[in-house]
Amino acid sequence: MRLAALGTTGERTRRGVLEELERIVGRERMSTKTADLYVYGFDASIHHKTPNVVIRPMNSKEVSEIVKLANRTRTPVVPRGAGTAMCGHTVPLKGGIVMDMTLMNRIKEVRVEDLYCVVEPGVVYDKLNEVLGKRGFWFPTTPGSGEACTIGGMVVTNASGMRAIKYGATRDYVLGLEVVLPTGEIIHTGTRTLKNSSGYQLDRLMVGSEGTLGIVTEITLKLAFKPRASAMTLAAFSSLEDAGRCVSNIIARPLMPSAIELMDSVCIRAVNKCMNVGLPDTAAICMIEVDGHPVAVEDELKIVEEIARQSGAVTTEASRDKKRIDYWTYARKAIMPSLSRYGEKFVSVALADDMSVPISRIPEAVVAFQRIAERNGVIVGTYGHAADGNLHTKMLVEPGSEDSWRRGEKAVGEIYEKVLALGGTVTGEHGVSITKAPYMQKERADSLETMRRIKKALDPRNIMNPGKMFDWQGNIIAHLRYPAFIETEGCMPSSKACEGQDEQHAGGK
Ligand code: MLT
Ligand code: ZN
Repeated sequence: MRLAALGTTGERTRRGVLEELERIVGRERMSTKTADLYVYGFDASIHHKTPNVVIRPMNSKEVSEIVKLANRTRTPVVPRGAGTAMCGHTVPLKGGIVMDMTLMNRIKEVRVEDLYCVVEPGVVYDKLNEVLGKRGFWFPTTPGSGEACTIGGMVVTNASGMRAIKYGATRDYVLGLEVVLPTGEIIHTGTRTLKNSSGYQLDRLMVGSEGTLGIVTEITLKLAFKPRASAMTLAAFSSLEDAGRCVSNIIARPLMPSAIELMDSVCIRAVNKCMNVGLPDTAAICMIEVDGHPVAVEDELKIVEEIARQSGAVTTEASRDKKRIDYWTYARKAIMPSLSRYGEKFVSVALADDMSVPISRIPEAVVAFQRIAERNGVIVGTYGHAADGNLHTKMLVEPGSEDSWRRGEKAVGEIYEKVLALGGTVTGEHGVSITKAPYMQKERADSLETMRRIKKALDPRNIMNPGKMFDWQGNIIAHLRYPAFIETEGCMPSSKACEGQDEQHAGGK
């Protein structure tokens, strides 16, 4: 019997499943209250769907028991960290159980002499770095949501951020994992050594699996040495293209920055208006960071400024002062919330939001995004971790207007078409889930079947985060969180692609 369908048909079995869940974790750590179910239906994406129950395990044994029960009863399970996912990863499309992993938040071991630490999935990124920083180490991937996001969420999306150019993404730090498979079995992948060629690299398979292949209950992470010094230059450009060119000019020098954050004029105006941060009011900005030995930092800072000017920067301002650098970083992190307050009737939404292109194609990509936005009559803010080719766009839509969503959706398709034509990928760091599914299916057309076979082999009853990535059908303007569409269960009234989806979901297939 499927919990997702039991609201109408299987009251006795439904109660049986809930009673068993209560036996596993106790009443305190589960909820079926309407308010709880409602809030656990969200993440940071445009989507929403309520689960049937929320449960908060404390250890892998409990996770395993819950998953065994779910497997037996074919109940969908969606693991969830802080809910900062931007594409619907933790939205329980087919109802069932949302498993909140945030109580599993212990840093179990830090072994700097062996260059690793062992953590539970609910540990928050910044908290881990607070602990590691005291010993001169860090986990340097620097996601934008570092204050809130959890390591478990980072692993299953292969998250990264500002400093990926120099320090890599989450996958580069995962040495080993403990995973509860969809059958409830607990397995250990990888090792606690820095090198390992011992069989299939299953941890690599789990990284980026978006909760579809199992639940990560413990992570062994490689540590990085914290740089002794860092500095930043804020370079302002009168053309977005010049700013894009500056990025590849720096890399090709050769010079390895620790970050280059690019912002277009829409983003600059939005943060200036909402946060009053006083960034230069120009066509584009690059915040270029270098780090390492203090002598090297000074040397590289000079070179970076010179390259920025040669690339067309109209002003540059360099700083070694941590407070100033933190202030600029704060302005950068304020882009997303500021865009939502940019114009009264708009909300900023993650539609085409974290594509990556080869670094030298950035100028072409950013200019194309602007043209696509103009052509479709939508406002698009472009920014991102340009040093490694990872760009963010956020679209401003009127949440109650179908026409506005449709124009946005059309622009998304054109943006991804351009990205793929430039040799890029539809997602560099946020993952696929729902909002990128149709485009990822295009990008990965020749390996989708292999993904489906792996999923089937590990999760024959399709209980783990079902209906997403390669299994998503239809368009992305579906199961919207915005009130205007609640009466149609999130599907746009005239959307053909949504027809039949809800029946399919209720079946929990
Ligand atoms: C960031 O870079 O801040 C995050 O990836 C979120 C985003 O802005 O899309
Ligand atoms: Zn980012």
